[in-house]
Amino acid sequence: GTRRMFTLHINGVEQKPTAAGGDLLVDVLHEELGLTGTKLSCGIGSCGACKVIVQKEPGGPKMAMLACYARMDSIEALHITTVEGLKGPDGELHPLQREFLDGHAFQCGYSTPGMLMAADVLMDQLARRPVPVAKLDNRIRQAISGNLCRCTGYVKYAQAIKKVIL
Ligand code: FES
Repeated sequence: GTRRMFTLHINGVEQKPTAAGGDLLVDVLHEELGLTGTKLSCGIGSCGACKVIVQKEPGGPKMAMLACYARMDSIEALHITTVEGLKGPDGELHPLQREFLDGHAFQCGYSTPGMLMAADVLMDQLARRPVPVAKLDNRIRQAISGNLCRCTGYVKYAQAIKKVIL
């Protein structure tokens, strides 16, 4: 298709990549914007490696979106957070990143950016609508159910997420 300039807000910065409307967000992140932290694995929307966070406006409810599925013409004007945008204002790691490291939650790391995004969306949901501690394990399992990991499995990820939430 015809290439044109798109306006996106990525990690709090306005970006104007050139792309075709049918281009995939993950390709634009990698090739136009140099943001390679978002991983492309299955490419067919079933592994969660490419998960990013979208909001209609800053501070609005966070939703997870698969960047291997999202086409440029359907995401214009959204506020997008990639794994590069999780760090704090002084470059410090997000508490989830810290705990994933300290808790040895990952091995090869390919699933990690998507897991971080899924967990951060869950934290946003729980901040808006808390659940009893007894329901937390379920919510965590649900939140990362679309994220595949073939190395360490899910227990350590789930434990690390729980530790950060509690
Ligand atoms: Fe997008 Fe697997 S690469 S879901």
